[in-house]
Amino acid sequence: MNKSDLIKEATKRTGLKRHEAARGVEAALDTIKRELENASVIHVRGLGRLHLKSKRRGYVPSQFPGGSHRRIPAGKAVKLTASRQAVVSLNTEPLKLKNENNIGGNMDKKLERETIDNQMTAAEGTALGLDVGTSRLVLASGPTDHVRAKAELNAFIAVPYSKFTESILKQNNVSYQLNGGTTLQVYGNEAARFANVFNTEVRRPMNGGTLNPAEEYSMSVMQAIIQQLVRKTKNGENMRFSVPGALRNEGSPNLVYHEAMLRDLLNSMGYNAKGINEGLAVVFAELEKENFSGIGVSCGGGMCNIALAFMSIPVMTFSMNKAGDYIDRNVGAVTGELPTRIRLIKEESLDLSRAPQNKYESALHIYYDDVILSLVESLRSSLAEAKNLPRIDKPIPIVLSGGTAKPKGFLEKFRQAIERDKFPLEISEIRMADDPLTATARGCLIAAMYDA
Ligand SMILES: Nc1ncnc2c1ncn2[C@@H]1O[C@H](COP(=O)(O)OP(=O)(O)O)[C@@H](O)[C@H]1O
Ligand SMILES: [Mg+2]
Repeated sequence: MNKSDLIKEATKRTGLKRHEAARGVEAALDTIKRELENASVIHVRGLGRLHLKSKRRGYVPSQFPGGSHRRIPAGKAVKLTASRQAVVSLNTEPLKLKNENNIGGNMDKKLERETIDNQMTAAEGTALGLDVGTSRLVLASGPTDHVRAKAELNAFIAVPYSKFTESILKQNNVSYQLNGGTTLQVYGNEAARFANVFNTEVRRPMNGGTLNPAEEYSMSVMQAIIQQLVRKTKNGENMRFSVPGALRNEGSPNLVYHEAMLRDLLNSMGYNAKGINEGLAVVFAELEKENFSGIGVSCGGGMCNIALAFMSIPVMTFSMNKAGDYIDRNVGAVTGELPTRIRLIKEESLDLSRAPQNKYESALHIYYDDVILSLVESLRSSLAEAKNLPRIDKPIPIVLSGGTAKPKGFLEKFRQAIERDKFPLEISEIRMADDPLTATARGCLIAAMYDA
């Protein structure tokens, strides 16, 4: 973007005449230049700090083996040190939110969006919801009718340490961590790109819904990713983070450890943090008009989480450790492909509502059926075994969410599995969450706002 683009954009956004907007842009640029020359630092909220920095003499390496380097003379350069918030939004895959379609379009709507964005910045810092998933961490903030979500991959790769690699990572603004000086851990969204480049699998701090005990960097990487998404605070704002339910019949003793470690980390960052069951968070996000009564289901990478709630009170929760990763692993095993490849095929083109087109899709259909049937059977048995279920006089809804529930046809397969047999509760409707990828984080945010 050059100066003339800036003027064009300013004209569009302000509704001023072109020459008026041009005067404004010129004045702002002149002031910035003058202030920087006077060695001042300019702070722009939400963007960062602009200041003048001396540049050492450098060189561009030759493209050819044995060729000579091209010298770059010393000089001064304007440096932007991005604020935390700016870095986060640059590094984050944008998530589609339910209000996105209402925003944009004509001029008034654009202005409305800017106002909303400003309000969000102000509202951020009052309450936060954090979905701690095996695949991704999602942070929700802002007012409930305009929730904003940011996501980071809950993954990393470790590359051998060298000063050179470190400086390349720095130059490219890639987040990394140094542990013991032998490896560099590249974490968050960047990890996927690096794994692709090096043709290797990402490593995960979590496994099957909780911290991975076999992974030595699990907590330190999670900490780094969380700090990338959430800034430290001094104000003790409420934060709810998602925790899975216990596995049926087995219980989950490591859940206690997982929840305590995350709570301690978030409290040490200044928040008043508490865990909330993931299925219950889905109920909070999606079942307001049903008085927070119904069944919330979240099918992610490591597990599926289910909660039955009445008037926001959880009466039965459980989890199952068959979900997206289970599908990738088993389809990979029977087709002789890497699970990462299967994951790509699944995410890019799987349609469960049509007949499979090749051996990968056939296997994907089979393991999806396996997951859906296991889930519905576990739900049936859990309800049948549950003691002291309140007497419900109205049919209740089931809402589905999570990345694994995304393929076309998932809802229909789930419905068929429920309808196959008598179900212990009367169901009014089975539907998908508004945005399956952010439902848990949005529910955590609502719980944090109302201190539920
Ligand atoms: N469009 C899609 N189609 C099928 N599976 C998907 C899609 N998007 C994500 N997934 C799968 O969903 C899982 C991640 O879901 P998510 O709710 O983000 O997980 P988690 O709770 O584990 O962080 C992964 O197994 C991923 O492959
Ligand atoms: Mg999840």
